[in-house]
Amino acid sequence: QSRARIGGNSAVAWEALRDEAAGCTRCHLYKCATQTVFGEGEVSAKLMLVGEQPGDQEDLAGKPFIGPAGQVLDKALADAGVDRATTYVTNAVKHFKFEQRGKRRIHSKPQGPEIEACRWWIDQERMLIRPPVTVALGATAARSLLHKVVTIAGSRGRPLTLEDGGECWVTIHPSYLLRLHDRADKEREYEQFVEDLRAANARVA
Ligand code: URA
Repeated sequence: QSRARIGGNSAVAWEALRDEAAGCTRCHLYKCATQTVFGEGEVSAKLMLVGEQPGDQEDLAGKPFIGPAGQVLDKALADAGVDRATTYVTNAVKHFKFEQRGKRRIHSKPQGPEIEACRWWIDQERMLIRPPVTVALGATAARSLLHKVVTIAGSRGRPLTLEDGGECWVTIHPSYLLRLHDRADKEREYEQFVEDLRAANARVA
């Protein structure tokens, strides 16, 4: 079902793009994943959020950020005063990459060639949506958007300029917070994440 909530040509073009992406064979990941998980949200969004790749639940549902990392993202967005419904949420890589261990499918990090093959789609999404501000959630998203390997520590907290002229704010991936066990660390990192989202959103609010 379409989540392109505005009428007109952009929504039609977005739907055509999503339908085309459903048959993507640009890299090998389509062979094991259930389906392409395309971006979704507001085609007229001023804020684009880019994650790494769909997880297990996203792969099954066909929607980005609906699993555990998505719940952290939703909470952080709410705490930052950002309404997810006004944003466009997508991933650098649009098929779930995993290792099968028994019945479990364990997330496997996408590598350079997969990120590069999938950049074609994110470029198309960006050409259509033209978001003035983009948040890269984690190093894979940052690598895809900035066309180079960067560290979160070295690139967060300030606007970076993308090739298409848009502004990019780099922050952590929400699943990083799920992996932290020390409560104080978790709280500090969460607050910093919310602050990054707030700072990015302030550029378009
Ligand atoms: N992690 C991501 O990077 N993207 C999703 O859609 C879900 C989990």
